[in-house]
Formats: sequence, C-alpha cells, structure tokens
Amino acid sequence: MKKVSDEQLKSWMEHVRIYANNGKVADYIPALMRQKPEINAAAYYDVDGSCVGAGQTEYRFTLQSVSKILALAVALMKHGEGAVFSRVGKEPTSDPFYSISKLELEKPSKPINPMINAGALAITNMMCGENSEEMVGEIIQLAKELTREDSIDYDEEVAKSEYESAFLNRSLAYFMKQNGVITGSVEELLDAYTKQCAITMNVQQLARIGAVFANDGKDMETNEQIIPEHYAQICKTFMVTCGMYNASGSFAIRVGIPAKSGVSGAILGVVKNQGGVAVFGPALDEKGNSVIGIKLLEIMAKHYKWSIF
Ligand code: DON
Repeated sequence: MKKVSDEQLKSWMEHVRIYANNGKVADYIPALMRQKPEINAAAYYDVDGSCVGAGQTEYRFTLQSVSKILALAVALMKHGEGAVFSRVGKEPTSDPFYSISKLELEKPSKPINPMINAGALAITNMMCGENSEEMVGEIIQLAKELTREDSIDYDEEVAKSEYESAFLNRSLAYFMKQNGVITGSVEELLDAYTKQCAITMNVQQLARIGAVFANDGKDMETNEQIIPEHYAQICKTFMVTCGMYNASGSFAIRVGIPAKSGVSGAILGVVKNQGGVAVFGPALDEKGNSVIGIKLLEIMAKHYKWSIF
C-alpha cells in the first residue's frame, strides 16, 4: 500500500487548479457567491495519524451538505437505526438535490434518503435540542470530537444569509410538516439546518473526520469509538450511493470511494482502513460538485488504486 506523499499531492494540485475555470461558484446562497474561485486546498489524513496538505490548507470553508453525514451519525447515535429510517428512506435518487417532486409522489411522503435536502431537514429535526442553538450544538459536538479541535463552530454570516434566502428548503420543510414527517417549529428547524450547513473548518480538519470514518468510527490516536462501527458503515454507504447527488454513479465509476460534497466546494472522501481525504475548491460543476475536487480525487484514486469496486 503506497502512502500519499506531500510532494505528489502538491504537484497534482498544481496540475488540477486550472480546472476551476470550468466551474462556477454557488450563487443561490448570497454569502457563498463571494467565495474566490481560485482558492484551493487538499489534505490527506492517514489512519497512522500523519497528515499531508497542498494549497491553502488553513483556509476555512463551510461544510454545507458535508454536514449531512455528521447529522446522520448524531441521529443514529441518539435514536438508533429503526427510528431514523422510519422518518427517512435509504434509496439513492436520480433527482437533483433541490427536488420536490418525489415528496408528492411518495406515500407516505417520507424523503427518499438522508442526503437530499428534504431528508437532511428530517434528520436535523431529530436533534434533541430545544432550540436551533442546542440542535446545531449536537452536530458541532461530534465535529469537535472527530477533529479533536475544540474551536469548531458555524459561520454566522453564511448561516444568516442562507436562512434569509432558503425559500425552497422552507417549502420542503412546510410540506413535510403538513404531512407529519417533521414536528415542531419549521423556522427553528430552518435556523438549525442553515447553521449546521455553515459549520466551518479547514481541509486538514475535514480530512481527519474522513480518517475516523476510514477507521470504522474509531479515533486512530485515542482509540475511542466515537461513532459505533455499524453507524459509520451506514454513513459511508450513503456517501457511496448518494453523497455526490445525481452524479454519485459517475463519481463511483471515476473515483470509487465513499465521498460527500457540499456547495461551498468541499468534498470529503474516505479510503477504507487507510485515511481521509478532503478537497476544497469553490468552482462547481452543473451538479453542484467541486470541479477540482473531483479531478484531484480521480487522479489520486487511480494512482493509489483506491476504488472499492
Ligand atoms: O441546503 C442547501 O441548499 C445548502 N445549505 C447545502 C446544499 C449542498 O451543499 C448541496 N451540495 N452539493
């Protein structure tokens, strides 16, 4: 098994950064529109505890949909598998992440999986906190444990910007409230969800989260089982089947590792028993995935023979 080398990662990053010109920064969340497309960063965190990086590795970005994996893990740990999947399905989708059509077609109108926005809203609704701060606090707490970084928090400006403009997510949530899929205040839920999506970290911290998943939920340095192995496995399965939205199939062919993207331009990848990889580049393709992220992961997966298929 070849180890990821610092020099090699830096040279690949130099090679792929030009691909940012083929993408476009997300513009439907006003605060994300201000991200500079030329920023890029990557890190690989090995389960042996070593970490290599390239680009602006200290640059902090919001997790956006990458946070859905953390929220799912929290919900599984708090409520168990039966309760979680009574509220949300397990099947992948060919729909874009903002789709509302399935909600009307499915009876009962349960979201088809926890990675589409409707499913992620239903999962955030399972947090036990009484208000949005307490709800997002449960996800932040897991992020702190996985990164071993006590300063992890959310970006207030990005959260507020999305909260004020999240009309589609609001309508998904109200639709589900009407159909009894979610309970309590929709506005409190939207507040918690947008704060969750605005949780901020750098690529090294995100790669460490990937490494813990690669190590079956167990911290490789402290040996603490942070996420039970079976729940870590469920999260990784969703990363394979729907982590890259309606590009999950082609990503599985091109790269072949569990991965989760976010519209900020982040991608988290997991290489079983080997390590976690995180890439950030805000220019996105038409499916909402980081262009340089996919390109870099494709090169690395080929070189290191990472594909699980
Ligand atoms: O809910 C939203 O639309 C965003 N906060 C997150 C969407 C996202 O990251 C989709 N990613 N590819």
